[in-house]
Amino acid sequence: MRCRMGHRVRVQETMPDRTKPQPQQQQPLVFEAHDLRKVYRTGEVEVVALNGVDVGFYKGELVVLLGPSGSGKSTLLNILGGLDLPSSGTLQYRGWDLTQADERVLTQFRRNCVGFVFQFYNLIPSLTARENVALITEVAPDPMKPEEALELVGLGARMDHFPSQLSGGEQQRVAIARAIAKRPEVLLCDEPTGALDVNTGITVLEAVERINREVGTLTVIITHNAAMAEMADRVLHLSDGQIVKERHNDVRQPVRDLVW
Ligand SMILES: Nc1ncnc2c1ncn2[C@@H]1O[C@H](COP(=O)(O)OP(=O)(O)OP(=O)(O)O)[C@@H](O)[C@H]1O
Ligand SMILES: [Mg+2]
Repeated sequence: MRCRMGHRVRVQETMPDRTKPQPQQQQPLVFEAHDLRKVYRTGEVEVVALNGVDVGFYKGELVVLLGPSGSGKSTLLNILGGLDLPSSGTLQYRGWDLTQADERVLTQFRRNCVGFVFQFYNLIPSLTARENVALITEVAPDPMKPEEALELVGLGARMDHFPSQLSGGEQQRVAIARAIAKRPEVLLCDEPTGALDVNTGITVLEAVERINREVGTLTVIITHNAAMAEMADRVLHLSDGQIVKERHNDVRQPVRDLVW
């Protein structure tokens, strides 16, 4: 499976200026979901985590996903990233039907096309920042150098530090470098600042924003912090497993200017 159509996106020349109003419809669709439902069954108990989600995600956009606890945000993100399958409905990635894909294709999709960032960084403590990123770049078909990925998240000077020698925000930025070093089409972040204080969270979000802007990675961020909506091209609100509100921002606020 190819992650990108045509040749690789090359940074500033091809990416639009993300601080200007962006008609997203002009960008190609990356994901197209129709009537996604996810029902978890545990014994007699059924939980409807997604209850008919119709949504598209476009190349290069930054989307913030808001909603109360239990509204289905992580479920949706995990399905987009090929970590889970819906109970019914369809999900296409660049025209590939992921809901019909076999395990081999799904594994390729996860490995080559998607970068995940979670609340907890899951770095390997006995490896340096550079080595943590290199673990991924060694198996990717067209990776950045670990150094390049770490520079992108502002950690050029800390490459040979072990996780225990880095702050929480720095560790999360290593996790982001690891997620994007394989040049995924899509970066999926599930509460990436959930364990961080505001100032540290800002440095992490700036790294995500920069990657979205410079590499053109479609980025979806789950958060409980409504202030982050202003940094997005588009904001989706989930409630009870459905998208109940969608908002387009004509202009994105730089992370530094967000009011927390
Ligand atoms: N593996 C699972 N087995 C059973 N129920 C699950 C499972 N995963 C999620 N659920 C249920 O599905 C619903 C949606 O969960 P999900 O994790 O998507 O919510 P969320 O919006 O990410 O919440 P939070 O903000 O607390 O992370 C919840 O009621 C949850 O308990
Ligand atoms: Mg969640």
